[in-house]
Amino acid sequence: MRQTNAAFGGPSGSGGSGGSGGTALLREFLRAPLLTATVAPSSRRLAEQMVTPIPWRGQPTVVELGPGTGAFTQVIQERLGGRGRHLAVELNPRLAGPLSRRFPGAEVVHADAAELPALLAERGLSADIVISGLPWVAFRATADVPLLPLVAASLSQHGVFTQFAYCWTRWAPPARRHLRDLRTTFEEVVLSRTVWRNLPPALVYLARRPR
Ligand SMILES: C[S@@+](CC[C@H](N)C(=O)[O-])C[C@H]1O[C@@H](n2cnc3c(N)ncnc32)[C@H](O)[C@@H]1O
Repeated sequence: MRQTNAAFGGPSGSGGSGGSGGTALLREFLRAPLLTATVAPSSRRLAEQMVTPIPWRGQPTVVELGPGTGAFTQVIQERLGGRGRHLAVELNPRLAGPLSRRFPGAEVVHADAAELPALLAERGLSADIVISGLPWVAFRATADVPLLPLVAASLSQHGVFTQFAYCWTRWAPPARRHLRDLRTTFEEVVLSRTVWRNLPPALVYLARRPR
């Protein structure tokens, strides 16, 4: 499963259907609703809120889980401006391929987020920031291992994890369970204000200091 940019054909490889993601997520949602979990990419406003922990200086290692069609990838790449490393881990090969061609500056890996510790170990890295676009279901069912402890263990000492939630699902049992799990796994969990300019409106959980 572990294909990277080079295996996808590199930056000059043939186009694919990714583009900026207008219809690709809808198509993938119809194929696999639980794993895709959305019919449209996140907004720029939500992406900007997600990337706030990325420092403006230095060489941070940023891991992106579930990049989809690249709504967060674009803003991460802009914020890094060629600094550090950006590893984007996408389970769906029909999304990972086009993404790798669109963002040659990011290392797109076709893999399960549960493989994160191995992916980082292979590269001799730990993550300074993990930015997750994953649906709740991925945190529970991925390869039968709970994902949050793996994410926490992958972070460097001052590492930060961000995750978004749609406001309308926030009080549903899976979302409440996830927030509880976040608070069990991290010493500090901060919730952003509602990002109204996203369809549907969403908020960002920012977690730091794994217990
Ligand atoms: C809700 S979409 C988010 C896409 C994009 N980040 C955005 O906000 O527009 C979730 C993405 O996570 C991917 N995904 C689901 N489970 C995954 C897993 N276990 N490992 C890696 N990616 C996964 C899906 O294929 C999909 O691209």
